Amino acid sequence: MLEISNLRKTFFPGTLNEKKALQGVNLHLKEGDFCTVIGSNGSGKSTLMNCIAGVFYPDKGFIKINGVDVSRMSEFVRAKYIGRVFQDPMKGTAADMQVEENLAMASRRGQRLSLQWSADPTKRAQFTELLKELDLGLENRLTTRIGTLSGGQRQAITLLMATLVKPQILLLDEHTAALDPKTAEKVLALTKRRIEEGNLTALMITHNMRDALRFGNRLIMMHEGRIIIDVEGEEKQNLTVQSLLQMFEKASGSEFSDPEALLAVPT
Ligand SMILES: Nc1ncnc2c1ncn2[C@@H]1O[C@H](COP(=O)(O)OP(=O)(O)OP(=O)(O)O)[C@@H](O)[C@H]1O
Ligand SMILES: [Mg+2]
Repeated sequence: MLEISNLRKTFFPGTLNEKKALQGVNLHLKEGDFCTVIGSNGSGKSTLMNCIAGVFYPDKGFIKINGVDVSRMSEFVRAKYIGRVFQDPMKGTAADMQVEENLAMASRRGQRLSLQWSADPTKRAQFTELLKELDLGLENRLTTRIGTLSGGQRQAITLLMATLVKPQILLLDEHTAALDPKTAEKVLALTKRRIEEGNLTALMITHNMRDALRFGNRLIMMHEGRIIIDVEGEEKQNLTVQSLLQMFEKASGSEFSDPEALLAVPT
């Protein structure tokens, strides 16, 4: 489904600020894999996602989605089949448009661009149903301007928009990190439900190791631009924070006085 081979990306090459963000990443996700991604600050997690989404092009290596090499495809073209939710709740929705206008736009992803939205009762009913499931008091606010909603409400709507038309891959970069714990939990529950119901293939970056363990069927850990741990299925189910930390120390060759803190620092 997603095939990443020998992916390399260096920022500011040949300068004093040179930063090797990806140093040969290999990853093969199967259809329906829900893979959580952990790793310390600066280990390359967001760069990996940005390369998949086309925000940057890799220097070397390739990314294939369903057999198609997208490595040099523009971000705009890729957006047709990639769903994304990033950390900033302000980014995924159009603030000046109403809730239903945003949802309608997302429901036409991959089709001809059009900003027209005529109130279609079937779609309205579908949107109301989806908003009700969020349990964030949004079902009666179809015509509210998105910009007036809270961060959590916006992030939940962004997630709906990213998955309204089935994306070939869903990318989540610390998408609950800016939310209060209660709202974060709701958005995580929604994430799980949308991924399971849609049998989506997803990558979810999190700084919360417990979330990384409790969600998904697969887990990868990045360190210095490489994937150093990749576990799935029963092996993942049996992992604990403690065993994960031991694996990290072994795989990275590093010992930290407080490795849990190292992995748990939100940016
Ligand atoms: N647009 C950019 N320009 C220059 N350097 C960048 C850019 N994006 C990332 N980097 C650098 O690449 C390295 C990897 O960064 P990245 O954002 O991928 O880390 P991360 O694992 O997502 O970290 P965090 O947990 O802090 O979000 C870092 O050293 C970072 O400073
Ligand atoms: Mg990041």
